[in-house]
Formats: sequence, structure tokens, C-alpha cells
Amino acid sequence: MPTSTPTPVSSPWWRTAVIYQVYPRSFADASGDGVGDLPGITSRLKHLADLGVDAVWLSPFYRSPQNDAGYDVSDYCDVDPLFGTLDDADALIARAHELGLRIIVDVVPNHSSSEHPWFQEALAAGPGSPERDRYIFREGRGADGSEPPNNWLSMFGGPAWTRITEADGRPGPWYLHLFDATQPDFDWTNPWVADRFDEVLRFWFDRGADGFRIDVAHGLAKAPSLPDFEVDPRRTGGEWAPDDHPYWGRAEVHPIWRRWRAIADSYDGDRALVAEAWVTPLSKLARWVRRDELHQAFNFGYLMTAWDAVELRAVIDESLAAFEGVGAPSTWVLSNHDTIRHPFRLSVAEQLPHGIGIGPKSADRPDESAALARGRAATLVMLALPGSAYLYQGEELGLPEAIDIPDEARQDPTWWRTPDGVYGRDGCRVPLPWEADAPAFGFSLTGKSWLPQPASWTKYAASAQAGVAGSTLEMYRSALRLRREHGLGQARITWNESIEDVLDFTVNDVRVIVNMSDTEVPLPRTEVLLASASPTGTLAHDTTVWLRA
Ligand code: NOJ
Repeated sequence: MPTSTPTPVSSPWWRTAVIYQVYPRSFADASGDGVGDLPGITSRLKHLADLGVDAVWLSPFYRSPQNDAGYDVSDYCDVDPLFGTLDDADALIARAHELGLRIIVDVVPNHSSSEHPWFQEALAAGPGSPERDRYIFREGRGADGSEPPNNWLSMFGGPAWTRITEADGRPGPWYLHLFDATQPDFDWTNPWVADRFDEVLRFWFDRGADGFRIDVAHGLAKAPSLPDFEVDPRRTGGEWAPDDHPYWGRAEVHPIWRRWRAIADSYDGDRALVAEAWVTPLSKLARWVRRDELHQAFNFGYLMTAWDAVELRAVIDESLAAFEGVGAPSTWVLSNHDTIRHPFRLSVAEQLPHGIGIGPKSADRPDESAALARGRAATLVMLALPGSAYLYQGEELGLPEAIDIPDEARQDPTWWRTPDGVYGRDGCRVPLPWEADAPAFGFSLTGKSWLPQPASWTKYAASAQAGVAGSTLEMYRSALRLRREHGLGQARITWNESIEDVLDFTVNDVRVIVNMSDTEVPLPRTEVLLASASPTGTLAHDTTVWLRA
């Protein structure tokens, strides 16, 4: 049964693009301080062009106290000295364009850093001032206002409210922060806020950015009365968002996206906007990408799907139907800087992005090579699907989740905001290994690295895999070349009859078979274009093959 419509040849780049996420602090460090930076990224852009991706999305590199690794912005229109300068950003964009790569930058509109002058001015201006109206300040409950205004929880643990002390020393109101206490939420009902973000978009579009990834695109609107809401503390992330949820996925966000779309459309070159919106079901998420709203939304429904043939087929069909219903391309994503790297995530029972660590709270440690085999098989499913795919840095090297990070080296605010120490996201953020024999595996010249790199990563270094047949790096390069040559991004998908725990589908002239069963399955005698593990007449457990149809 055909479930997708071919895209016209003249369709814009983002409809079929493979977009590679760079997490700047962990990609490449040119200054040698152990934190990645913009000149480091520029020096390694050729790796991404050679990999065959269409665009690069950069997580935030703006001025920031770095309490949430840059998602706490204190100046949206400047580069944090940790990462370089505005000139470095210009040079990066120019070099990317020379190499034929588009650049998507991150924008963080739900909250700023508490060190942003806008928030500092709000504190200084005092109660009742227009400056206070930029953020969500409310009086506390209880006789002396010492209880938070409602029961909302921070995504990183603990209450979502912090009480301020006024200039005269008296206890003041509370401000809302759905994330860390240093990330106060804006009040998007205030037109002043919308005007400032128009300027931010224009600032980066004018510098040549090809698009924006919009942080927390499901969270900007809050129910005006800020009602109590019972959340499961382990499911604060909007994995489900009923229409009456007081802060996730509310209808009032849509006029904001229409306004942003008009700005993007006023620029040449098919500028694109992609939503980070943790909203289910996908039919609801599709509202974020209606024709006059955003261009794409990350498909977290796909990311959260377990390694199970029935569930995987269902989410593929559901995604294609939901996004096509509004004329948008589906996206596909398996890994990012907030989730357990997919080879490990698909191999443990715990699907939520709470991290894996050593000790009693640890999920079972997966076998590294079995996890890699499964991860590679999952990648070859994703890269065969029509639409646009997102890769996260290091997945092309097959990096495992870093589990053995000592407690004292952990950096994620989740780790220290939760009483029982939820491991959080450090395990997917460890700096990349570029060269097998260099200090810090070539990440920095000095050998410094802001999170420790496992000694066993020698074998994952790009230098150890480049040109090596069958390596994960070469598998990704081949997959991206074949995806382009066979037009898979703009194809129609047809499901073929298959046995239990095996997925079998055809996209253009490529037949994809995925063996998720425990046994080997027979393989049709036809040309093998690519396989996640060499087939030997049969297809082994946890293997995907692309055959000439
Ligand atoms: C989503 C980002 O991906 C995550 O890293 C960040 O902590 C939160 N938004 C808050 O900005």
C-alpha cells in the first residue's frame, strides 16, 4: 500500500534534507581549553561535506553562563567567548556555504538566562513595572506567600518556581522556570517579547543562517490562570500533551509560528524553521507544520519507538499520514544531545532520556557490540525513509553512550537537581574522537576535554574508520550517497509481505529488509546495495539490508 506522495523535483531542500546536529562544546576544540568552539567546527566541516549531509544544525553558541550547556542564553545576538566571536560565526557560515552545506542555528524563545539584561532589568525595575511583564512573576501561595504559586515541576527536577528577594530585602514574588532556576520563562502574551524575537531571527537570517531549530516549541504558551497540574515526575517532557495541558502543546503557540513563518518567507533561499516539540500524538504535532507555520518538526514519536517490528511499522505509517495530511515532510531522528545514544537506547528497557550510569540506579549495561549492530540496523531503516532525517554528531562513528562518567565529572543540571541523582544527558555529550592516537583523540590539541572520553574510544575514532570497508563511518557515507542517488528522500514507500519480526518495504528501486527476529531469515537473491552487517546468504538478527528492487 503506497503511503507517501512523491515530492516534485523543484521542492525546497529541507523536504528531503539530511541534517547533522553539531553540539558545539563537544565537536572540535581549536582553542585547547577542553570545550569545543566555532573555529574547531569550521576546521572539521569538510568531514560533514564528505559524509554527504545537506545541512548542519548548531546547538547554541550564544553568550551564556552555561548552566544548561548554552540553552540559557544571556545575549541572543553574540557568541560566547567560550566558543569564539561573531567573526568566527561568519567564517563558519561562509565556509559551510562554500562546501554546499546549509546552516541551521538554534533559537531559545521559551526562556532566557537569568543573567540576561532583560531579566536583570525586570528584577531591578520592581513590582508592577513593564520590565517585570517580560517574564512570569506571580505572588506565592500561603499567608506569607512562601509557597510556590502552583505545583508545576521543573523539567530538571524540583519546583518550577523560584522566589526573588526585592531590592529592599523583602521577600518578593516567584518567577516561573520550566527548566533550571537560571532559565526564567518569558511571558509570550507580552508583545514586547515577540518583537525582541523578531529581531533575533532577522539578526541571524541577515548573517546568512539558512534556518532555525526552535527550542521548546511546544512550551511558549501557558494557561492564563496557571492552574495546578498533576504531572508524573518521570514524564514531565510533554511525551503526552492533552489539549488542556497548562503549558505543553497549547493552541496559543500557533500565531507565534505564523509570525515567524512570515519572517522566514521574507528572505530568499528557502529558509527553514524546525520545531523541537515533544508533543504526541503525531497528528497533534502536525499542527506545528501546517502550511503557514513551521517547515518541520522533530519526530520524537519515532525516536521513542522501541526496537519492535510492529511498533516501528506503525510509527512509520502514522508519521507519513500525519505529516502528509498537512503537506509537510515527515522527519526522522534517532539520537540527539538530550537522549541516550540510539544503539544503547534501543538495547535497554528504559526508553526515556534519563541517562545511564554506573551503580544501583543503572539500567542494565547493554553489550556494546550487540548494541552497535542494532543501532546500525536502525540507522539503515531511518535513512531509507521518505522525508528529512536528522543525525547527531558521533552517530556516524557508532559511538556508544558513555556510561562510566564519574559522578564528580557530571555536568547536566538534572544530575544535581534530582535528589536521587538522575544521570541525565552527559553520556551522549562526550567530545568526539577524531584521531585514534592523538591526545583527547584529536578533539583538542592540549588533550583537555570537558567530559572525560572513555579510553576504549580509540576504535571509534574517525581516523580508525575512514576508508575501512564495513566501518560505521563508511556505512553512513554509503547510505547517504545511495539515498541521494536513488531519491529515497522523495520516494513512495510500499510495504511487502513479511514474516513475523521482519520489516520489508520498497522505496523507489530499493528494497529494505530488517530482521528484528531472533533467528536468521532467508534473503532474496538480488544485488545487495548496502547492509548493516554483511549478509551471508541469509540475514542475521538485528541486520538491515538495502537490495536492488
Ligand atoms: C531542549 C534542549 O534540547 C535541551 O538541551 C535543553 O536543556 C532544554 N530544551 C531547555 O532549553
